[in-house]
Amino acid sequence: MSHEPWVKPHGAWLMAHGSSLKMDQLINPISQLKGQLRAPSDRSITVRATLLGGIADGISVVRMPLRCDDTDACLDCMRRLGVEIENLELKIENEELSDTNSPFSIFNSKFIIHGRGLHGLQAPTERLFCGSSGATMRLLSGLISGQAFNSVLDGTAQLRKRPMRRITEPLRLMGAEIDDAAGCAPLEIGGRLTPLQGMVYPTPVASAQVKSAILLAGLYAEGETVVGETAKTRDHTERMLAAMGVPMEAWQADGRYWAKMRFTPSLKPFELTVPADFSSAAFFMVAAAIVPNTTLTLLDVGMNPTRTGLLDALRLMGAQIAIRNERMEGAEPVADLDICAPHGLKGIEVHGELTARSIDELPILAVAATQAHGTTLVRNAEELRVKESNRLEGFVAELHKLGANIEPTADGFVVHGPTPLHGAVVDGLGDHRVAMSLAVAALVANSPTTILGADCVSKTYPGFYDDLAGLC
Ligand code: S3P
Repeated sequence: MSHEPWVKPHGAWLMAHGSSLKMDQLINPISQLKGQLRAPSDRSITVRATLLGGIADGISVVRMPLRCDDTDACLDCMRRLGVEIENLELKIENEELSDTNSPFSIFNSKFIIHGRGLHGLQAPTERLFCGSSGATMRLLSGLISGQAFNSVLDGTAQLRKRPMRRITEPLRLMGAEIDDAAGCAPLEIGGRLTPLQGMVYPTPVASAQVKSAILLAGLYAEGETVVGETAKTRDHTERMLAAMGVPMEAWQADGRYWAKMRFTPSLKPFELTVPADFSSAAFFMVAAAIVPNTTLTLLDVGMNPTRTGLLDALRLMGAQIAIRNERMEGAEPVADLDICAPHGLKGIEVHGELTARSIDELPILAVAATQAHGTTLVRNAEELRVKESNRLEGFVAELHKLGANIEPTADGFVVHGPTPLHGAVVDGLGDHRVAMSLAVAALVANSPTTILGADCVSKTYPGFYDDLAGLC
Protein backbone atom coordinates (compact mmCIF):
# COMPACT_ATOMS: atom_id res chain seq x y z
CA MET A 1 0.00 0.00 0.00
CA SER A 2 1.34 3.42 -0.88
CA HIS A 3 -0.08 6.56 0.66
CA GLU A 4 2.34 9.01 -0.86
CA PRO A 5 0.66 11.82 -2.71
CA TRP A 6 2.56 12.88 -5.74
CA VAL A 7 2.37 16.65 -5.85
CA LYS A 8 2.58 18.27 -9.23
CA PRO A 9 2.70 21.92 -10.26
CA HIS A 10 -0.62 23.75 -10.72
CA GLY A 11 -1.97 22.11 -7.58
CA ALA A 12 -2.60 18.76 -9.28
CA TRP A 13 -1.82 15.55 -7.58
CA LEU A 14 -2.73 11.97 -8.10
CA MET A 15 -2.48 9.37 -5.39
CA ALA A 16 -2.81 5.64 -5.81
CA HIS A 17 -3.59 3.31 -2.96
CA GLY A 18 -4.80 -0.22 -2.86
CA SER A 19 -3.79 -3.85 -2.97
CA SER A 20 -2.75 -6.08 -5.84
CA LEU A 21 -6.43 -6.88 -6.38
CA LYS A 22 -7.97 -3.43 -6.78
CA MET A 23 -6.45 -0.01 -6.86
CA ASP A 24 -8.25 3.23 -6.19
CA GLN A 25 -7.04 6.46 -7.69
CA LEU A 26 -7.45 9.97 -6.37
CA ILE A 27 -7.62 12.68 -9.02
CA ASN A 28 -7.41 16.33 -8.04
CA PRO A 29 -8.74 19.16 -10.16
CA ILE A 30 -6.17 21.05 -12.21
CA SER A 31 -6.03 24.48 -13.82
CA GLN A 32 -3.91 23.61 -16.84
CA LEU A 33 -2.33 20.74 -18.74
CA LYS A 34 0.73 21.06 -20.90
CA GLY A 35 3.28 19.09 -22.83
CA GLN A 36 3.31 16.32 -25.38
CA LEU A 37 2.61 12.65 -25.28
CA ARG A 38 2.98 9.54 -27.37
CA ALA A 39 0.04 7.41 -26.26
CA PRO A 40 0.65 3.64 -26.09
CA SER A 41 0.52 1.69 -29.32
CA ASP A 42 -2.65 0.53 -31.00
CA ARG A 43 -4.35 -2.49 -29.47
CA SER A 44 -6.38 -3.49 -32.56
CA ILE A 45 -3.28 -3.45 -34.76
CA THR A 46 -1.11 -5.27 -32.19
CA VAL A 47 -3.71 -8.04 -31.81
CA ARG A 48 -4.06 -8.47 -35.58
CA ALA A 49 -0.30 -8.44 -36.12
CA THR A 50 0.18 -11.11 -33.44
CA LEU A 51 -2.49 -13.38 -34.93
CA LEU A 52 -1.56 -12.91 -38.57
CA GLY A 53 2.20 -12.97 -37.90
CA GLY A 54 1.67 -16.40 -36.34
CA ILE A 55 0.25 -17.87 -39.56
CA ALA A 56 2.55 -16.03 -41.99
CA ASP A 57 5.13 -17.92 -44.01
CA GLY A 58 8.25 -16.70 -42.20
CA ILE A 59 9.41 -14.14 -39.67
CA SER A 60 7.43 -10.93 -39.06
CA VAL A 61 8.69 -7.96 -37.04
CA VAL A 62 6.28 -5.81 -35.04
CA ARG A 63 8.00 -2.69 -33.72
CA MET A 64 6.51 -0.89 -30.72
CA PRO A 65 3.72 -3.38 -30.06
CA LEU A 66 1.26 -2.53 -27.29
CA ARG A 67 1.94 -4.40 -24.04
CA CYS A 68 -1.17 -4.58 -21.88
CA ASP A 69 -3.53 -7.24 -20.49
CA ASP A 70 -5.35 -7.70 -23.81
CA THR A 71 -2.28 -8.03 -26.01
CA ASP A 72 -0.52 -10.25 -23.45
CA ALA A 73 -3.51 -12.61 -23.59
CA CYS A 74 -3.31 -12.68 -27.39
CA LEU A 75 0.43 -13.36 -27.29
CA ASP A 76 -0.13 -16.18 -24.84
CA CYS A 77 -2.78 -17.81 -27.05
CA MET A 78 -0.51 -17.77 -30.10
CA ARG A 79 2.34 -19.24 -28.04
CA ARG A 80 0.01 -22.03 -26.90
CA LEU A 81 -0.62 -22.71 -30.58
CA GLY A 82 3.10 -23.30 -31.06
CA VAL A 83 4.14 -19.90 -32.40
CA GLU A 84 7.51 -18.66 -31.16
CA ILE A 85 7.32 -14.95 -30.37
CA GLU A 86 10.41 -13.15 -29.12
CA ASN A 87 9.77 -9.97 -27.21
CA LEU A 88 12.90 -7.86 -27.52
CA GLU A 89 13.45 -4.77 -25.44
CA LEU A 90 16.54 -2.62 -25.80
CA LYS A 91 18.94 -2.73 -22.89
CA ILE A 92 17.63 -0.32 -20.28
CA GLU A 93 20.35 1.58 -18.43
CA ASN A 94 18.23 3.18 -15.75
CA GLU A 95 16.68 0.60 -13.42
CA GLU A 96 13.70 2.88 -12.78
CA LEU A 97 12.79 2.77 -16.45
CA SER A 98 12.67 -1.01 -16.63
CA ASP A 99 8.89 -0.98 -16.14
CA THR A 100 7.23 -2.03 -19.41
CA ASN A 101 4.91 0.98 -19.23
CA SER A 102 7.63 3.57 -19.39
CA PRO A 103 7.84 5.47 -22.66
CA PHE A 104 11.43 4.25 -22.96
CA SER A 105 10.51 0.59 -23.12
CA ILE A 106 7.44 1.24 -25.27
CA PHE A 107 9.65 2.98 -27.79
CA ASN A 108 12.18 0.21 -27.93
CA SER A 109 10.35 -3.07 -27.80
CA LYS A 110 9.59 -5.35 -30.70
CA PHE A 111 8.03 -8.72 -31.32
CA ILE A 112 9.77 -11.14 -33.65
CA ILE A 113 7.09 -13.60 -34.67
CA HIS A 114 8.17 -16.90 -36.17
CA GLY A 115 5.16 -17.57 -38.37
CA ARG A 116 4.24 -21.25 -38.85
CA GLY A 117 2.32 -20.84 -42.09
CA LEU A 118 -1.42 -21.17 -42.60
CA HIS A 119 -1.44 -24.86 -41.66
CA GLY A 120 1.42 -25.04 -39.17
CA LEU A 121 -0.27 -24.23 -35.86
CA GLN A 122 -0.08 -26.93 -33.19
CA ALA A 123 -2.98 -28.33 -31.18
CA PRO A 124 -3.04 -26.54 -27.82
CA THR A 125 -2.73 -28.72 -24.73
CA GLU A 126 -4.86 -26.34 -22.66
CA ARG A 127 -7.69 -23.87 -23.15
CA LEU A 128 -6.80 -20.76 -25.11
CA PHE A 129 -7.37 -18.15 -22.42
CA CYS A 130 -8.22 -14.81 -24.00
CA GLY A 131 -8.34 -12.87 -20.72
CA SER A 132 -10.83 -10.03 -21.13
CA SER A 133 -9.94 -9.43 -24.76
CA GLY A 134 -13.02 -9.57 -26.97
CA ALA A 135 -10.89 -8.95 -30.07
CA THR A 136 -8.59 -11.88 -29.25
CA MET A 137 -11.50 -14.24 -28.70
CA ARG A 138 -13.52 -13.20 -31.74
CA LEU A 139 -10.67 -12.94 -34.22
CA LEU A 140 -8.95 -16.08 -32.97
CA SER A 141 -12.24 -18.00 -33.32
CA GLY A 142 -12.24 -17.15 -37.02
CA LEU A 143 -8.65 -18.24 -37.40
CA ILE A 144 -9.14 -21.46 -35.37
CA SER A 145 -12.33 -22.48 -37.20
CA GLY A 146 -10.31 -23.77 -40.15
CA GLN A 147 -7.70 -25.74 -38.17
CA ALA A 148 -7.42 -29.52 -38.09
CA PHE A 149 -7.41 -29.75 -34.26
CA ASN A 150 -9.94 -29.15 -31.50
CA SER A 151 -9.61 -26.18 -29.18
CA VAL A 152 -11.49 -24.36 -26.45
CA LEU A 153 -11.45 -20.57 -26.18
CA ASP A 154 -12.23 -19.11 -22.79
CA GLY A 155 -11.83 -15.88 -20.87
CA THR A 156 -12.51 -13.96 -17.69
CA ALA A 157 -15.98 -13.66 -16.15
CA GLN A 158 -16.26 -10.30 -17.92
CA LEU A 159 -15.50 -11.80 -21.34
CA ARG A 160 -17.80 -14.77 -20.68
CA LYS A 161 -20.70 -12.32 -20.48
CA ARG A 162 -20.09 -10.76 -23.89
CA PRO A 163 -22.10 -11.87 -26.93
CA MET A 164 -20.37 -14.45 -29.14
CA ARG A 165 -23.28 -15.62 -31.29
CA ARG A 166 -22.50 -12.72 -33.62
CA ILE A 167 -19.40 -14.69 -34.65
CA THR A 168 -20.39 -18.31 -34.02
CA GLU A 169 -23.44 -18.00 -36.27
CA PRO A 170 -21.61 -16.81 -39.41
CA LEU A 171 -18.67 -19.12 -38.75
CA ARG A 172 -21.09 -22.07 -38.61
CA LEU A 173 -22.54 -20.93 -41.93
CA MET A 174 -19.02 -21.34 -43.32
CA GLY A 175 -18.95 -24.92 -42.00
CA ALA A 176 -17.21 -24.40 -38.66
CA GLU A 177 -18.16 -26.67 -35.77
CA ILE A 178 -18.56 -24.46 -32.73
CA ASP A 179 -20.35 -24.99 -29.45
CA ASP A 180 -21.06 -21.81 -27.56
CA ALA A 181 -22.54 -21.81 -24.10
CA ALA A 182 -25.86 -20.06 -24.79
CA GLY A 183 -24.13 -17.60 -27.09
CA CYS A 184 -21.15 -16.87 -24.84
CA ALA A 185 -17.68 -18.23 -24.07
CA PRO A 186 -16.32 -20.83 -23.53
CA LEU A 187 -16.31 -21.71 -27.22
CA GLU A 188 -15.50 -25.26 -28.24
CA ILE A 189 -14.24 -25.39 -31.79
CA GLY A 190 -13.96 -28.72 -33.56
CA GLY A 191 -11.04 -29.56 -35.84
CA ARG A 192 -11.76 -30.25 -39.52
CA LEU A 193 -9.88 -31.87 -42.33
CA THR A 194 -11.78 -30.21 -45.17
CA PRO A 195 -11.81 -26.49 -46.01
CA LEU A 196 -14.50 -24.08 -44.85
CA GLN A 197 -16.81 -22.56 -47.48
CA GLY A 198 -16.62 -18.95 -48.56
CA MET A 199 -19.88 -16.98 -48.37
CA VAL A 200 -21.50 -13.59 -48.80
CA TYR A 201 -22.55 -12.33 -45.38
CA PRO A 202 -24.32 -9.05 -44.61
CA THR A 203 -23.61 -8.57 -40.89
CA PRO A 204 -26.56 -7.68 -38.62
CA VAL A 205 -24.27 -5.52 -36.41
CA ALA A 206 -21.61 -3.15 -37.69
CA SER A 207 -18.63 -4.72 -35.93
CA ALA A 208 -14.98 -4.91 -36.96
CA GLN A 209 -14.55 -7.98 -34.78
CA VAL A 210 -17.33 -9.85 -36.57
CA LYS A 211 -16.03 -8.78 -39.99
CA SER A 212 -12.48 -9.78 -39.04
CA ALA A 213 -13.49 -13.18 -37.62
CA ILE A 214 -15.19 -14.00 -40.94
CA LEU A 215 -12.24 -12.76 -43.02
CA LEU A 216 -9.76 -14.79 -40.96
CA ALA A 217 -11.94 -17.89 -41.41
CA GLY A 218 -11.96 -16.97 -45.12
CA LEU A 219 -8.23 -17.74 -45.18
CA TYR A 220 -9.25 -21.38 -44.71
CA ALA A 221 -12.28 -21.30 -47.03
CA GLU A 222 -12.85 -22.36 -50.60
CA GLY A 223 -13.96 -19.57 -52.91
CA GLU A 224 -14.59 -15.98 -52.02
CA THR A 225 -15.53 -14.61 -48.61
CA VAL A 226 -17.53 -11.39 -48.68
CA VAL A 227 -18.71 -9.36 -45.68
CA GLY A 228 -21.03 -6.34 -45.87
CA GLU A 229 -21.67 -3.94 -43.02
CA THR A 230 -24.13 -1.08 -42.65
CA ALA A 231 -21.45 1.34 -41.41
CA LYS A 232 -17.77 1.08 -42.22
CA THR A 233 -15.92 -0.20 -39.16
CA ARG A 234 -12.16 -0.25 -38.59
CA ASP A 235 -10.39 -1.90 -41.51
CA HIS A 236 -7.03 -2.83 -39.98
CA THR A 237 -7.57 -6.52 -40.83
CA GLU A 238 -8.23 -5.76 -44.51
CA ARG A 239 -5.16 -3.51 -44.72
CA MET A 240 -2.93 -6.11 -43.08
CA LEU A 241 -4.24 -8.99 -45.21
CA ALA A 242 -3.65 -6.95 -48.37
CA ALA A 243 -0.08 -6.19 -47.23
CA MET A 244 0.44 -9.94 -46.73
CA GLY A 245 -0.54 -10.66 -50.32
CA VAL A 246 -4.23 -11.60 -49.98
CA PRO A 247 -6.29 -10.30 -52.94
CA MET A 248 -8.73 -7.89 -51.26
CA GLU A 249 -11.49 -5.68 -52.64
CA ALA A 250 -13.68 -3.04 -50.99
CA TRP A 251 -16.74 -1.30 -52.40
CA GLN A 252 -20.03 0.31 -51.42
CA ALA A 253 -23.42 -0.93 -52.67
CA ASP A 254 -27.00 -1.40 -51.45
CA GLY A 255 -26.38 0.72 -48.37
CA ARG A 256 -23.49 -1.47 -47.25
CA TYR A 257 -19.71 -1.41 -47.17
CA TRP A 258 -18.39 -4.67 -48.60
CA ALA A 259 -15.02 -6.35 -48.15
CA LYS A 260 -14.07 -9.35 -50.28
CA MET A 261 -11.11 -11.68 -50.05
CA ARG A 262 -10.00 -14.47 -52.33
CA PHE A 263 -8.16 -17.67 -51.46
CA THR A 264 -4.41 -17.43 -51.17
CA PRO A 265 -2.12 -20.41 -50.45
CA SER A 266 0.22 -18.52 -48.10
CA LEU A 267 0.68 -15.22 -46.29
CA LYS A 268 3.78 -13.06 -46.72
CA PRO A 269 5.47 -12.07 -43.44
CA PHE A 270 5.61 -8.34 -42.69
CA GLU A 271 7.44 -5.62 -40.78
CA LEU A 272 5.46 -2.81 -39.21
CA THR A 273 5.67 -0.10 -36.58
CA VAL A 274 2.48 0.15 -34.55
CA PRO A 275 1.17 3.74 -34.29
CA ALA A 276 -0.16 5.23 -31.05
CA ASP A 277 -3.71 4.10 -30.38
CA PHE A 278 -6.20 6.78 -31.42
CA SER A 279 -8.57 5.45 -28.75
CA SER A 280 -5.96 5.94 -25.99
CA ALA A 281 -4.87 9.35 -27.30
CA ALA A 282 -8.58 10.29 -27.28
CA PHE A 283 -8.61 10.81 -23.49
CA PHE A 284 -5.96 13.50 -23.87
CA MET A 285 -7.73 15.08 -26.86
CA VAL A 286 -10.75 15.70 -24.67
CA ALA A 287 -8.62 16.73 -21.68
CA ALA A 288 -6.99 19.36 -23.92
CA ALA A 289 -10.41 20.56 -25.05
CA ILE A 290 -11.94 20.96 -21.57
CA VAL A 291 -9.08 21.95 -19.24
CA PRO A 292 -8.64 25.73 -19.60
CA ASN A 293 -5.37 27.24 -20.88
CA THR A 294 -4.31 23.95 -22.44
CA THR A 295 -2.67 22.97 -25.69
CA LEU A 296 -1.50 19.38 -25.96
CA THR A 297 0.58 17.75 -28.65
CA LEU A 298 -0.10 14.08 -29.32
CA LEU A 299 2.55 12.23 -31.32
CA ASP A 300 2.38 9.32 -33.79
CA VAL A 301 -1.40 9.02 -33.57
CA GLY A 302 -2.98 6.35 -35.76
CA MET A 303 -5.24 8.27 -38.17
CA ASN A 304 -7.08 5.44 -39.92
CA PRO A 305 -10.28 7.26 -41.05
CA THR A 306 -12.44 4.45 -39.68
CA ARG A 307 -11.21 5.41 -36.20
CA THR A 308 -11.04 9.22 -36.16
CA GLY A 309 -14.69 10.13 -35.60
CA LEU A 310 -13.85 11.86 -32.31
CA LEU A 311 -11.65 14.39 -34.14
CA ASP A 312 -14.55 15.31 -36.42
CA ALA A 313 -16.88 15.52 -33.43
CA LEU A 314 -14.50 17.75 -31.46
CA ARG A 315 -14.03 20.01 -34.48
CA LEU A 316 -17.81 20.33 -34.87
CA MET A 317 -17.93 21.21 -31.17
CA GLY A 318 -15.46 24.04 -31.75
CA ALA A 319 -12.07 22.56 -30.78
CA GLN A 320 -9.02 23.64 -32.78
CA ILE A 321 -7.03 20.70 -34.10
CA ALA A 322 -3.85 20.98 -36.16
CA ILE A 323 -2.79 17.81 -37.97
CA ARG A 324 0.95 17.77 -38.67
CA ASN A 325 3.53 15.36 -40.13
CA GLU A 326 0.96 13.20 -41.89
CA ARG A 327 2.67 10.01 -43.00
CA MET A 328 2.13 6.29 -43.54
CA GLU A 329 3.42 3.61 -41.17
CA GLY A 330 3.10 0.54 -43.36
CA ALA A 331 -0.56 0.41 -44.39
CA GLU A 332 -1.77 2.83 -41.72
CA PRO A 333 -1.89 6.66 -41.77
CA VAL A 334 -0.24 8.42 -38.80
CA ALA A 335 0.10 12.08 -37.75
CA ASP A 336 0.95 14.41 -34.86
CA LEU A 337 -1.86 16.53 -33.44
CA ASP A 338 -2.05 19.83 -31.55
CA ILE A 339 -5.36 20.29 -29.74
CA CYS A 340 -6.92 23.17 -27.82
CA ALA A 341 -10.34 24.79 -27.45
CA PRO A 342 -9.71 28.44 -26.53
CA HIS A 343 -13.29 29.46 -27.35
CA GLY A 344 -15.04 26.60 -25.51
CA LEU A 345 -17.21 23.83 -26.93
CA LYS A 346 -20.79 23.58 -28.15
CA GLY A 347 -23.19 20.62 -28.19
CA ILE A 348 -23.65 18.51 -31.35
CA GLU A 349 -25.58 15.51 -32.65
CA VAL A 350 -23.67 12.30 -33.37
CA HIS A 351 -25.27 9.46 -35.34
CA GLY A 352 -24.80 6.92 -38.16
CA GLU A 353 -21.34 6.82 -39.65
CA LEU A 354 -19.91 9.21 -37.06
CA THR A 355 -21.11 6.96 -34.23
CA ALA A 356 -19.45 3.93 -35.87
CA ARG A 357 -16.20 5.87 -36.36
CA SER A 358 -16.11 6.87 -32.70
CA ILE A 359 -17.63 3.80 -31.03
CA ASP A 360 -14.87 3.43 -28.41
CA GLU A 361 -14.66 7.20 -27.86
CA LEU A 362 -18.30 7.83 -26.97
CA PRO A 363 -17.71 7.76 -23.18
CA ILE A 364 -14.96 10.38 -23.43
CA LEU A 365 -17.09 12.36 -25.90
CA ALA A 366 -19.78 12.43 -23.20
CA VAL A 367 -17.24 14.02 -20.86
CA ALA A 368 -16.51 16.73 -23.45
CA ALA A 369 -20.27 17.27 -23.81
CA THR A 370 -20.65 18.03 -20.09
CA GLN A 371 -18.49 21.13 -20.68
CA ALA A 372 -20.12 22.13 -23.99
CA HIS A 373 -22.81 24.79 -24.36
CA GLY A 374 -26.12 23.23 -25.37
CA THR A 375 -27.27 19.68 -25.95
CA THR A 376 -25.25 16.76 -27.27
CA LEU A 377 -27.25 13.81 -28.54
CA VAL A 378 -25.58 10.50 -29.41
CA ARG A 379 -27.68 8.02 -31.42
CA ASN A 380 -27.24 4.57 -33.02
CA ALA A 381 -24.92 3.53 -30.19
CA GLU A 382 -26.76 0.42 -28.85
CA GLU A 383 -23.45 -1.47 -29.08
CA LEU A 384 -22.30 0.43 -25.98
CA ARG A 385 -24.49 -1.94 -23.94
CA VAL A 386 -22.24 -4.92 -24.78
CA LYS A 387 -18.75 -3.51 -24.32
CA GLU A 388 -16.58 -4.26 -21.26
CA SER A 389 -19.48 -2.84 -19.24
CA ASN A 390 -22.91 -1.56 -20.19
CA ARG A 391 -21.62 1.90 -21.05
CA LEU A 392 -25.09 3.32 -21.63
CA GLU A 393 -26.37 2.55 -18.13
CA GLY A 394 -23.28 2.13 -15.94
CA PHE A 395 -21.01 4.83 -17.29
CA VAL A 396 -23.81 7.34 -17.54
CA ALA A 397 -24.69 6.70 -13.86
CA GLU A 398 -21.07 7.21 -12.76
CA LEU A 399 -20.73 10.45 -14.73
CA HIS A 400 -23.97 11.57 -13.14
CA LYS A 401 -22.33 11.21 -9.72
CA LEU A 402 -19.84 13.92 -10.75
CA GLY A 403 -22.75 16.25 -11.45
CA ALA A 404 -23.15 15.71 -15.21
CA ASN A 405 -26.56 16.32 -16.72
CA ILE A 406 -26.62 13.11 -18.77
CA GLU A 407 -29.32 10.52 -19.39
CA PRO A 408 -29.26 7.28 -21.35
CA THR A 409 -31.67 6.91 -24.28
CA ALA A 410 -32.77 3.75 -26.09
CA ASP A 411 -29.77 3.91 -28.46
CA GLY A 412 -27.35 6.39 -26.91
CA PHE A 413 -27.37 9.29 -24.48
CA VAL A 414 -28.16 12.96 -24.18
CA VAL A 415 -26.05 15.52 -22.34
CA HIS A 416 -27.01 19.10 -21.45
CA GLY A 417 -24.13 21.46 -20.72
CA PRO A 418 -22.12 23.16 -19.60
CA THR A 419 -22.28 21.72 -16.07
CA PRO A 420 -19.87 22.48 -13.25
CA LEU A 421 -18.68 19.05 -12.08
CA HIS A 422 -17.92 18.19 -8.45
CA GLY A 423 -15.66 15.53 -6.97
CA ALA A 424 -17.21 12.22 -5.89
CA VAL A 425 -16.41 8.58 -5.31
CA VAL A 426 -17.02 6.83 -8.62
CA ASP A 427 -16.49 3.29 -9.89
CA GLY A 428 -14.43 2.25 -12.90
CA LEU A 429 -16.88 -0.66 -13.36
CA GLY A 430 -13.98 -2.90 -14.42
CA ASP A 431 -14.06 -1.04 -17.73
CA HIS A 432 -10.85 0.68 -18.86
CA ARG A 433 -12.60 3.33 -20.92
CA VAL A 434 -15.03 4.16 -18.12
CA ALA A 435 -12.18 4.65 -15.61
CA MET A 436 -10.12 6.81 -17.99
CA SER A 437 -13.14 8.92 -18.97
CA LEU A 438 -14.02 9.54 -15.32
CA ALA A 439 -10.40 10.53 -14.62
CA VAL A 440 -10.54 13.17 -17.37
CA ALA A 441 -13.89 14.47 -16.08
CA ALA A 442 -12.38 14.68 -12.57
CA LEU A 443 -9.70 17.09 -13.84
CA VAL A 444 -12.34 19.81 -14.27
CA ALA A 445 -14.33 19.06 -11.09
CA ASN A 446 -14.18 21.53 -8.21
CA SER A 447 -12.99 18.97 -5.62
CA PRO A 448 -11.09 15.66 -5.60
CA THR A 449 -12.52 12.46 -7.06
CA THR A 450 -11.73 8.88 -6.10
CA ILE A 451 -12.02 6.24 -8.79
CA LEU A 452 -12.60 2.79 -7.33
CA GLY A 453 -11.07 -0.15 -9.18
CA ALA A 454 -9.02 2.30 -11.21
CA ASP A 455 -6.45 -0.32 -12.21
CA CYS A 456 -8.82 -1.75 -14.83
CA VAL A 457 -7.02 0.65 -17.22
CA SER A 458 -4.34 -2.06 -17.56
CA LYS A 459 -6.60 -3.68 -20.18
CA THR A 460 -5.23 -1.27 -22.78
CA TYR A 461 -3.27 1.47 -21.01
CA PRO A 462 -1.32 0.36 -17.92
CA GLY A 463 0.56 3.67 -17.59
CA PHE A 464 -2.46 5.95 -17.97
CA TYR A 465 -2.37 7.69 -14.56
CA ASP A 466 1.40 8.28 -14.82
CA ASP A 467 1.00 9.78 -18.29
CA LEU A 468 -1.81 12.01 -17.05
CA ALA A 469 0.27 13.16 -14.08
CA GLY A 470 3.16 13.86 -16.45
CA LEU A 471 1.05 16.48 -18.25
CA CYS A 472 -0.19 18.21 -15.07
C1 S3P B 1 -12.31 -3.66 -32.08
C2 S3P B 1 -13.54 -3.41 -32.61
C3 S3P B 1 -14.62 -2.74 -31.87
C4 S3P B 1 -14.08 -1.96 -30.71
C5 S3P B 1 -13.13 -2.76 -29.90
C6 S3P B 1 -11.94 -3.21 -30.73
C7 S3P B 1 -11.33 -4.41 -32.91
O1 S3P B 1 -15.53 -3.71 -31.36
O2 S3P B 1 -15.15 -1.51 -29.91
O3 S3P B 1 -12.65 -1.99 -28.81
O4 S3P B 1 -10.14 -4.47 -32.56
O5 S3P B 1 -11.74 -4.93 -33.95
P1 S3P B 1 -16.75 -4.27 -32.24
O6 S3P B 1 -16.19 -4.86 -33.44
O7 S3P B 1 -17.39 -5.31 -31.37
O8 S3P B 1 -17.63 -3.09 -32.48
